[in-house]
Amino acid sequence: QAAPLIDPFARAITYLRVSVTDRCDFRCVYCMSENMQFLPKKELLTLEELDRMCSTFIRMGVRKLRITGGEPLVRRDIMTFFQGMTRHLESGDLQELTLTTNGSQLARFAEPLAAAGVKRINISLDTIDEKKFAEITRWGRLKQVMDGIDAALAAGLKVKINAVALKNFNEDELFTLQEWCLDRGMDLTFIEVMPMGDLGNEDRLDQYWSLKDLRARLAERFTLTDLAERTGGPARYVQLNETGQKIGFITPLSHNFCESCNRVRLTCTGQLYMCLGQEDMVDLRAPLRASEDDALLEERIRAAIGQKPKGHDFDYSRQVADGQMSRHMSHTGG
Ligand code: GTP
Ligand code: 5AD
Ligand code: SF4
Repeated sequence: QAAPLIDPFARAITYLRVSVTDRCDFRCVYCMSENMQFLPKKELLTLEELDRMCSTFIRMGVRKLRITGGEPLVRRDIMTFFQGMTRHLESGDLQELTLTTNGSQLARFAEPLAAAGVKRINISLDTIDEKKFAEITRWGRLKQVMDGIDAALAAGLKVKINAVALKNFNEDELFTLQEWCLDRGMDLTFIEVMPMGDLGNEDRLDQYWSLKDLRARLAERFTLTDLAERTGGPARYVQLNETGQKIGFITPLSHNFCESCNRVRLTCTGQLYMCLGQEDMVDLRAPLRASEDDALLEERIRAAIGQKPKGHDFDYSRQVADGQMSRHMSHTGG
């Protein structure tokens, strides 16, 4: 065991998010452009390298691992990687192994994921209207995701739905989504849309629906109790007293949560981003490939954490999408 990772603002880094592929079978409009150029596969870390990388972080104090993408389940043989991580769960070094997925492949993978020790998964779903779903994902089929969700629940996984809150898109579905999740025993979290990716003729500011407003709308129908409990990520939860259901809010814009940040992100090519909303990164692929021994890698990781910035620069308050970043969400995995 190495010394824990502490950043310059005394935050302990215990949560690693790993993007295992930049590819996805959908093209959500706020995430990717229609004709995304994907990386040549040889640029990606191999599954063995991903294992070595994650194992090193776990040795350095990472307790929660979230696999993302792109869509993590379209990476070939990805189950081999999950099955490899099971040993860290069994040894107690890793407390949580989880993933964020669009759900499209879950009918196939829910069972093996549960068998590998995954307990809880987050599924991204912004609408339960078939036509709107096809529109926001550009060509996704809602039925496929619904089947995936059913499979996840049947496999005993605890499911949280993540919906990006979008003005003029899913505002009218607030209560439909909430009820639909309640019926299935699923928690629901809303995310404020962040100004990332090449926007083309879109404007995130036009799409921005503040969660302060969303919360006020919930309060018209339910009594809300703020919950102190956290899940290790940025979401804050309220309980709807009348139903007992939990609703989460991820508010990078309306309420900055960076002071309690505990996470860093590894891209599928082995770059470590210290913050989702900053361009600072450190390449870990070169030190990984330079030696069989992990000493150099550990040293680079420690140095990288020593440069973690205080927080993101996203800001819509001046009525322009300040802090806009051209990097696509699929690159760093959200
Ligand atoms: P749990 O708390 O374990 O459920 O996970 P989480 O909320 O950390 O993970 P999830 O993948 O569900 O995160 C949902 C979304 O929240 C991400 O895709 C991002 O859009 C956003 N998010 C997560 N972490 C950060 C962060 O550090 N900064 C910002 N700005 N957004 C984040
Ligand atoms: N702003 C907020 N959330 C986003 N996601 C993708 N792009 C954005 C964005 N620009 C979310 C997805 C999914 C997670 C992986 O990232 O909806 O929940
Ligand atoms: Fe794919 Fe998720 Fe991005 Fe949509 S948000 S394109 S499902 S990675």
